[in-house]
Amino acid sequence: MIIGVPREIKDNEYRVGMTPAGVKTLIQSGNKVLVEASAGIGSGFEDKDYIDAGASITSAPDIYSSADMIVKVKEPLASEYAMLREGQILFTYLHLAPNIELTDALIDKKVIAIAYETIEKDGRLPLLAPMSEIAGRMSVLIGAYYLQRPEGGMGLLCTGMPGVCPAKVVILGAGNVGSSAARVAIGLGCQVVVMNRGIERLHAIDELFQGRVMTLSMDNIDKEVKEADVLIGAVLIPGSRTPRLVTRQMVSKMKRGSVIVDVSVDQGGCIETTRPTTHSNPVYEVHAVIHYCVTNMPGAFPRTSTLVLTNCTISYIAEIASMGFERAVRKDDSLYKGVNLYRGAVIHPALASSIGVEPGVIR
Ligand SMILES: NC(=O)c1ccc[n+]([C@@H]2O[C@H](COP(=O)([O-])OP(=O)(O)OC[C@H]3O[C@@H](n4cnc5c(N)ncnc54)[C@H](O)[C@@H]3O)[C@@H](O)[C@H]2O)c1
Repeated sequence: MIIGVPREIKDNEYRVGMTPAGVKTLIQSGNKVLVEASAGIGSGFEDKDYIDAGASITSAPDIYSSADMIVKVKEPLASEYAMLREGQILFTYLHLAPNIELTDALIDKKVIAIAYETIEKDGRLPLLAPMSEIAGRMSVLIGAYYLQRPEGGMGLLCTGMPGVCPAKVVILGAGNVGSSAARVAIGLGCQVVVMNRGIERLHAIDELFQGRVMTLSMDNIDKEVKEADVLIGAVLIPGSRTPRLVTRQMVSKMKRGSVIVDVSVDQGGCIETTRPTTHSNPVYEVHAVIHYCVTNMPGAFPRTSTLVLTNCTISYIAEIASMGFERAVRKDDSLYKGVNLYRGAVIHPALASSIGVEPGVIR
């Protein structure tokens, strides 16, 4: 199979879809890999590293016109839609449910769109988890940073001081983002509250952190949001738009200079006042509350993120390359769950229900 790795063009996105080590694995099993010139620079990989691994360096148009499968990090942007071809496999983070324009464009193009974030194995999301863990760890550091007065925050040092309370960090969602955020918040000495629906995830968090976080059911959301110095949005219903758990009115009751980091913004966000931002313009204020809603947070740490990502994606890429798409998804149910669109049909049930169409089948 010919596998293409274009350079990411999203604002301040320095990750790349494959490391030279990933290229080497695919070349060794008889595939051809095309990498766009300078694609790896932001993650610390030179073109020469890819050439040494066996890749050919070329241009984006050449990659899109020759590759059977495009491996990326972020969703294609409008300038990339035009280059996609019917039947081409697109393997990347997609987050289609809140992005109708992209969904329509990919349906029109009749591509086979496999979303990293909906691949599911043993009830886990193995390709979303690593980026979630990075974003979760980052979220608390970002919240702490924006609590500074010069950044518009309330001027609270999140670690506290002897005789002075640390920041209260309230985390909505006890999955990968939520538990990683809790880990860092505990490390910084913050007061930490983690909320989730149901008891199972809260039980796991309680066990993991041995009583160093307070776990609460969602009934407490009004009070906890009001008291938060840093509020982290970390809920997810895979494939669907994020449920809005925090209303504008709840935000209006938060403290002046408190900080919201809505990590779940990529699926629409769990806070009514959330709107997507970028690394070059990451924050805005609503009701004197700072909102950080960057949709590609791990892009700020591309070296770590790219290495982690390829470690997780390469076995799926190798599987598709060796068996072909149809056989691979028939054999591997976790990969099947990643298929969002297939030649113009919406396959993923949660995506289909989010956009109000009947799910199709792969023939
Ligand atoms: N902004 C970024 O750069 C970035 C990076 C990585 C991940 N993310 C996003 O962060 C979000 C969380 O990802 P994750 O890996 O932690 O997901 P996860 O599935 O591990 O955790 C989500 C949690 O939300 C809970 N939940 C779902 N609906 C709920 C509700 N109505 N009320 C309360 N809890 C509810 C689930 O029970 C689960 O525990 C996703 O949208 C993901 O795409 C964003």
